[in-house]
Amino acid sequence: MNRNWQLLLISTLLLATTTISFAQVPWPEKAKNLKVLPANTSTAQLRQTMFAFSNALGVNCIHCHVAGEFNDWSTYDFAADDKPTKRIARIMFKMVDYINNEAMSEVSEIRERSVDVSCMTCHRGNTTPKSLQQTLAEVIEAEGVRAGIREYRRLKERYQHGMAFDFSEAPLNLLGYQLMGEGKLDEAIEIFKLNVEEYPNNFNPYDSLAEAFMENGQHRLAVIYYSKSLALNPENTNALQMLEQLEGEQK
Ligand code: HEC
Ligand code: HEC
Repeated sequence: MNRNWQLLLISTLLLATTTISFAQVPWPEKAKNLKVLPANTSTAQLRQTMFAFSNALGVNCIHCHVAGEFNDWSTYDFAADDKPTKRIARIMFKMVDYINNEAMSEVSEIRERSVDVSCMTCHRGNTTPKSLQQTLAEVIEAEGVRAGIREYRRLKERYQHGMAFDFSEAPLNLLGYQLMGEGKLDEAIEIFKLNVEEYPNNFNPYDSLAEAFMENGQHRLAVIYYSKSLALNPENTNALQMLEQLEGEQK
């Protein structure tokens, strides 16, 4: 555990859902069961590490530690290894250490390293670090586009103010094109419609929706949405070209 292992702990002490008081955690004088943290880890370092783990994953202590009651510290057995999540956290810790100290060591031969990988680098407040596009694509694959849209709304409600997912127009746009690429035009149209609904003042969602309609042979709708996109952004040359092409066809 050499190169600045403390770096992976950088974190503001902001636990997401706190109905329990973290001020009262009975931190042990000396931890009993450390397998990846250095044996001489101080109580302050342990506390900082545990807050960093919790923040990075967007969870509370009970996600990894055995406890009878979530909000009763006397029922916690922090040294126990029963929970798979605690054991996975150790593997993750070793992985992060390997990435920083081994995998990226040669970068220093090219230029000075300025960034260390931490739990937060991947997790960003999410137990399963997966992009919005990937998450929704999986739901759509399994349960259809309606379920995908419901999942989008649920995630947005829950994570809107966090950093777990990117709720800009980009992921839905990418998802729409991914679906188009898979030949799922109806699904793509529904996703682009959702993006237009979410971002009614951005030109690009209209442009993408128009493209999907065009691809689907719905040229009248394509004209409507390319025009809308062009109105929002007169510099959208793609929409201009497409409109000329579509109007040419109609003559
Ligand atoms: C993502 C999983 C995870 C979360 C969340 C987490 N911990 Fe831990 N905790 C661990 C792991 C892994 C160890 C063991 C580290 C090692 O093996 O060196 C540990 C060790 C500890 C220990 C030392 C136990 C001992 O005696 O060996 C204490 C105390 C502790 N955690 C408290 C907490 C508290 C309090 C919270 C909530 C603020 C918390 N942890 C959140 C994974 C987690
Ligand atoms: C390089 C990216 C990356 C980094 C860095 C990373 N993780 Fe993970 N972590 C993942 C991925 C990917 C998964 C999901 C693995 C799976 O189940 O497919 C995961 C899963 C987990 C899980 C299981 C979550 C659950 O609830 O099932 C825990 C716990 C965890 N990570 C803890 C940590 C901790 C603690 C750190 C920092 C020491 C860390 N991770 C750093 C990528 C990362």
